[in-house]
Amino acid sequence: MKYGLIGEKLGHSFSKTIHEKLADYTYELKELKENEVEGFLKAKEFEGINVTIPYKQTVFPYLDVISKRAEKIGAVNTIVKKGGKLYGDNTDYLGMKALIERVCGDIEGKKVLILGSGGTSKTAKAVAEDFGASNVIRVSRSGKDGAITYEEAYGKHADAQILINTTPAGMYPNTDGCAVDLDRLPNLTGVIDAIYNPLRSVLVIKAQERGISAEGGLFMLVAQAVYAAEQFADMTFEEGTIEKVFGAEMNEKRNIVLTGMPKAGKTTVGKMLAKNLNLEFVDTDKLIVDREKREITEIFAKEGEDYFRKVEAEVIAEVSLKNGLVIATGGGAVLRPENVLNLKKNGQIFFLNRPVDELTPSRTRPLAGSVDKILKLFKERYSVYKSTCDHMVVNNVSAADAVERIKEILSGRKNILVLNGPNLNMLGVREPDIYGFTTYSQLCELIDRHAKELRINVTTYQSNSEGDLVTKIQEAYGKADGIVINPGAYTHTSVALLDALKAVQIPTVEVHISEVSKRENFRQISYVRAACMATITGHGVNGYLEAIDLLVKG
Ligand code: DQA
Repeated sequence: MKYGLIGEKLGHSFSKTIHEKLADYTYELKELKENEVEGFLKAKEFEGINVTIPYKQTVFPYLDVISKRAEKIGAVNTIVKKGGKLYGDNTDYLGMKALIERVCGDIEGKKVLILGSGGTSKTAKAVAEDFGASNVIRVSRSGKDGAITYEEAYGKHADAQILINTTPAGMYPNTDGCAVDLDRLPNLTGVIDAIYNPLRSVLVIKAQERGISAEGGLFMLVAQAVYAAEQFADMTFEEGTIEKVFGAEMNEKRNIVLTGMPKAGKTTVGKMLAKNLNLEFVDTDKLIVDREKREITEIFAKEGEDYFRKVEAEVIAEVSLKNGLVIATGGGAVLRPENVLNLKKNGQIFFLNRPVDELTPSRTRPLAGSVDKILKLFKERYSVYKSTCDHMVVNNVSAADAVERIKEILSGRKNILVLNGPNLNMLGVREPDIYGFTTYSQLCELIDRHAKELRINVTTYQSNSEGDLVTKIQEAYGKADGIVINPGAYTHTSVALLDALKAVQIPTVEVHISEVSKRENFRQISYVRAACMATITGHGVNGYLEAIDLLVKG
C-alpha cells in the first residue's frame, strides 16, 4: 500500500473517509498482528502511514528519525518515507492541541485533569503543559505511574476547570458508560472526550446539559489526519481545511432526530430533509410496527402503553448507534430520559414545534384522537420537548421552510437580528457629543463587515414606531438565533417590546451607545432588560459588535 493505517483492529476506523476527503490517494486500512509489524516496516513498501493502537510504541526501533514531540510523548502515529528513510512524528499532539483550543479556549493557568493511562493521556498531558496549564494531573483507576486515583481527584482536585477523558468508558459498543462523576467536579468549564464513536459520549452529553463547553474526539481525529496528510504530501493545506473536513465528516456521520407532537410534521419534514441531504430516513413508529408485525393502535389496545414504550426504547437504542440517518420519533419517545440520551449520542435533536391549532386529530394515533386529547398532550409535553432538544424549529410555514431552517442550523451559520428604535436613524447628526459621529448607514456597514468575518447572517432593521419593532421581534420567532436591540427611548417606556421578547424566547442583548446609567433619571428604567441576557452601555457603536460576539459565543 502507498498510504494507509496500520493497527490491530480497524473495523470502526473513520480514517479512510477522512483522508480520502483530503487528497486523491487511496487510503488503505491494514490490520497487522504484533509479529507482522517489524516485517511491514522493514519492507518499506509505503510512502506514508498512520499508526494506531496498540503499535504506537512498537514502531520506534524501525524508524530512522523521530520528532522531538513523538519522543517526549513516547508514541508515533505518523511515518513518512523520505529518501529511503523512515521519519516518525506524532500528529495526535497537534490534533489534541486543536481540539483543546476549540473547546476550552486558553487554558493557561488552569487546573487540568486527564483521565486514563494510555498513549492519548500522555499526548493530552504534553499539550496541556505546553499550553501553560497551572497543574496537569493524570487520574487512573490504579493510581499508578504518576497518576492519582479517582477518589483522590474528587477529594483534592474538585476545583479542576478542564477535564480530558482518554479512557474507553462510554465508547462503542458499550456506550452507556461515563468516565467520571461530574457532580463531584463542580468547577469544570471545559470537557473533552477523545471518544468519537459515538460522536457524543454520555460524558459529553452530561457536560453540555450542565452548560459546560464539551466535545468528543472527531475534531481531533480530523485535525491529526490533516497534519499527517500534510506530511505525506509535504505541503500545507489552506486555512479552514480542518473545519471543512470535520463539517463534511459530521454531515455523513451525524443523525438528525426529529421530535415533537403527533402530526407536527416529523415524517413529512424528515423525508424531505433526508432526500435533500442524501441521508436515509427512518421512522421509529414504523420500525416498531415492522418488528411487532401489527399496528400501533393494536399494540396499545392489546398490550398497553408500557409495553409499547418498552419496545420503543429498544428500537431507539438500536437505531441511535447508527450513523447518517434522519430519524422521526414517536410523539412520546422523549418522555423516557434513556431515549433522549441514546438519541443524542450520534444525533442532534430538533424539536419540530407546530402551532397547536394546526395539529389535527388522527384516528391512527391512540393518544391524539381528538382536539381535547391533543391539547392535553401538548400541555403535558411541551416543556419536555423544549428541554430535551438541541434546537427548536418552528414548523409554521411549510415543510420546505422547516427543512431550510434545519439545514441553516446544521451549517452552524447563525442568524442575528439587529434592531434599532426611534431616532437611531439620525445617528451622526443627532447630539454627536453623546452618540458620536458614526451615521446609521455607517453603523450598518460596520455590522455587515463584522458578520462576514464571523461567517454569520445579520439583518439590520430600524423603526421609529413601537408596533413595527414588536412585529419584527414576532417575525423572528423560530428564525433568529439571537437579537441585538437598542430600543432607543422605548427602552424606558415599552412593556410591549419586553412582552414580545419574552414571547419569542430568543437570546437577546440590549445595547445603548451612550452611558445611560450616568444620564437623566428617566433613563434609569429599562423594561426590555428583564428579557435580555446582557446589557452593553456606553461603548459607542462598538457595543453592537460586542453584543453580536456574545450571541455567537452562545
Ligand atoms: C440610547 C439611550 C436612550 O436613552 C435614548 O433614548 C436613545 C439612545 C443609546 O443608545 O444610548 O435613543 O438607547
